[in-house]
Amino acid sequence: MRIDVVSLFPDFVAQVAGHGVVGRAGERGLLSLHGWNPRDFAEGNYRRVDDRPFGGGPGMVMLIDPLRAALAAARAADPAPARVVYLSPQGRPLDQAKARELAALPRLVLLCGRYEGVDERLLAAEVDEELSIGDYVLSGGELAAAVVVDAVARLLPGALNDAESAAQDSFEPPADGKGGPLLLDCPHYTRPVVHALGAVPPVLLSGNHADIARWRYQQALGRTWQRRPDLIDLTALSPADRRLLDAWLAEAGLPPAGQD
Ligand code: ADE
Repeated sequence: MRIDVVSLFPDFVAQVAGHGVVGRAGERGLLSLHGWNPRDFAEGNYRRVDDRPFGGGPGMVMLIDPLRAALAAARAADPAPARVVYLSPQGRPLDQAKARELAALPRLVLLCGRYEGVDERLLAAEVDEELSIGDYVLSGGELAAAVVVDAVARLLPGALNDAESAAQDSFEPPADGKGGPLLLDCPHYTRPVVHALGAVPPVLLSGNHADIARWRYQQALGRTWQRRPDLIDLTALSPADRRLLDAWLAEAGLPPAGQD
């Protein structure tokens, strides 16, 4: 996969996203990351990339032409069609399903704004999709672009080693294809078995894979209900899941789901 980043700080994105799994995806030839600086495409001695907003108000707005030229150069660098994504708090929230969708594309161009924003006409003409990484405001799209690069790169086939498989991550649909809610990850433990901070749950030492899988699923269900109830529609939960959840709640000394 090829990802181009259009940004006033293109190296920043490569730096932030260039470590660990993403760096390895680059080394393995699964991902190539390229930066384009609109300032390199700006005219005049000052290479101006922004100007004051019409209608008044604080801050500066990024000019159409330097961004348009940078985007054109990025598009022309490879014949495969590119999805152009603008990072902004006004975008649709990024989630794991969107990361999977983007990871299946041959090319992605990430457009990062700075200042108060980007001239709306450039967005209307050039951008396929606007994405946000959360309901808070960053001072530019670069960190958000690095988040997208990381979330996408680790999903590229071969980016993770077997032991790191993405299939068991939070928000990944269960591999059995039976559906059910998207869940947060279960808790994890490693050596020692007994520590001053507590013991490892005995089921994990039992060697019974079915019991372990059921325990992990129950933990994921319980933790998701407790921490992110918005992710679980109680009325859509299967009777078996409902029993698992209520047993988890009972063990935590809590009333059954939907009865508080
Ligand atoms: N740029 C500034 N804030 C952002 C956010 N929350 N998500 C994506 N891009 C942004």
